[in-house]
Amino acid sequence: MSKWFPKLYDTLMNPLEERAFRAIRKNLIEKARGHVLEIGSGTGFNFPFYQQAEQVVAIEPEPLMRQQSIQRAAEAHVPIEVLAAGAEKLPFRDDSFDTVVGTLVLCTIPDPLLTLKEIRRVCKPQGQVLFFEHVRLDHAVLGRLQDWLTPVWKRLCDNCHLNRQTLELIRQSGLKVVSVEKHLKDIFLVIEAVNSK
Ligand SMILES: C[S@@+](CC[C@H](N)C(=O)[O-])C[C@H]1O[C@@H](n2cnc3c(N)ncnc32)[C@H](O)[C@@H]1O
Repeated sequence: MSKWFPKLYDTLMNPLEERAFRAIRKNLIEKARGHVLEIGSGTGFNFPFYQQAEQVVAIEPEPLMRQQSIQRAAEAHVPIEVLAAGAEKLPFRDDSFDTVVGTLVLCTIPDPLLTLKEIRRVCKPQGQVLFFEHVRLDHAVLGRLQDWLTPVWKRLCDNCHLNRQTLELIRQSGLKVVSVEKHLKDIFLVIEAVNSK
């Protein structure tokens, strides 16, 4: 990972957080219930919005971001434990969680399909899976622009792919998508799914 990315993440994100993301995160994260897993929690932007979760386990592989997550966890309304782990090999038993959360993370994780398989494994049958992700646009010009920008963008921004077809990957994984909400010219999607297994 570029060293500057974890240091500047909050500063770079703050304008978008204030303009739109905070409200989107709040609406989504408030739905998380029971025993919750959050993958790639970054600096813990979601943590203030957990309300009805009994307990949250967050995994974050990047040490500096994990440190910031740990600080935000201390101020949360619910107990949050932050662990060092990667989402492609989750250190949890099958059927451990009622809810799994991922925000702005499937764009970055090297193997999103393996991650989704792991999410399905550790999430209970009929458990809820909540995502807030950006995706490749289904638009002839803009979609190609995202393809064109991605090689440079992912080098600058910690492997973030602008052109991942994340909704299709989620469907492909076997999760049952129950709702899709579009934001900011359809680039950002809030996706709610059920672990039908
Ligand atoms: C763009 S940041 C998003 C952080 C946070 N989820 C948010 O909504 O602000 C992407 C995050 O994915 C994490 N990440 C990268 N590879 C990962 C992996 N293999 N497993 C889990 N998280 C990963 C990064 O360390 C980073 O925290």
